[in-house]
Amino acid sequence: MTPEHIELVKATVPVLRENGVALTQYFYNRMLANHPELKNVFNMDHQSSGRQPRALAAAVLAYAEHIENPSFLAKAIEHITTKHVSLNIQADQYAIVGDNLLHSISEVLNVPFESDLIAAWKEAYLQLADILIQTEKNKYEGLAQQNGGWSGWRPFEITAIEATETGKKFTLKAQDHQPIPTAEEKSYISVKVQVPNHEIQQPQQFIFSEAQNNSEYQIEAKSVETPTEFSVANILLDHYKVGDTVQVTAPLKG
Ligand code: HEM
Repeated sequence: MTPEHIELVKATVPVLRENGVALTQYFYNRMLANHPELKNVFNMDHQSSGRQPRALAAAVLAYAEHIENPSFLAKAIEHITTKHVSLNIQADQYAIVGDNLLHSISEVLNVPFESDLIAAWKEAYLQLADILIQTEKNKYEGLAQQNGGWSGWRPFEITAIEATETGKKFTLKAQDHQPIPTAEEKSYISVKVQVPNHEIQQPQQFIFSEAQNNSEYQIEAKSVETPTEFSVANILLDHYKVGDTVQVTAPLKG
C-alpha cells in the first residue's frame, strides 16, 4: 500500500468506530440479499443477536488501526482462520465479502465508489484477505493430512441419542466407516443441520467436553434460552433421530 492509501484508511477509523456496527449490519443485509446462498454459511441466530456483525466490525477496525503492522494482528488472525476453517469458508467467498463490504462503506459513508478512499480500503481488504486465505489454505491441508483427517464437510450418521441433565448427547459416526482423527478435550467441530420448513442449512460449533479417542464423536446439544427456528441445538433436540445424517467438519483447537 502507498503511504497515501495508509493515511486514507487510518483517517476513516474514527468514522468507522462510530458507525462500525451499523456499517457491518448494513453490509450483512446487503450481502445476504445479493447472495442468499450464504444463509447456509452464516449462523442466522448470530446475525440477529448482532454478534457476528460486531466481531467483524472489531476485526476491520483493529486491522485499519494497525495497518502498518499486520503482524500485530497475528492472534486475531489465528482465531478468525480457525473459526473460518471450522466453517469451511472458501477463498472465492472473499471476493463476495470484499465487494459487498466496499460498496457498503461507500454507501454508508456516502463516498463515491470510484474514489481514492474506496481504492485504499480495497487494497487494505485484499491485504488482509490474502493473509487469511493463505493461513486457511495451510490449515485445510493440515487437517486433510491427519490420520483419518479431512477438510470441509463430511457426512456423519447419528448412531445414538442419550438424555442428559441439560439436553441430549448425540453419538456421531462417519458415514463412510473410514477412520476419523482423535480429538483433545475442549477442541470443537462444526455440525450442520437442515432447518425444518426452510431451504437452508445451519452450522454451529460444539466443544468436546472430553477427549474423543474412539471411532465416533460425542457432542451435547443444550437448549438455548430464547431459541429461534434457526437454533441448531434446538433443531437437533427436536427434530433429529438415530439414523439421521448431519455434516461435520474436522476437530480444531483454538
Ligand atoms: C477480511 C475478511 C474477513 C474478516 C476480517 C473476518 C472476520 C471474522 C471474525 C472476527 C469472525 C468472528 C470469529 C468469532 O466467532 O470469534 C468471523 C466469523 C465468521 N466469518 Fe469471517 N471474516 C472475513 C471473511 C469472511 C468470509 C469471506 C466469509 C465467507 C463468506 C466469512 C464467514 C464467516 C462466518 C460464517 C463466521 C462465523 C460467524 C457466526 O456465524 O458466528 N468471513 N469472521
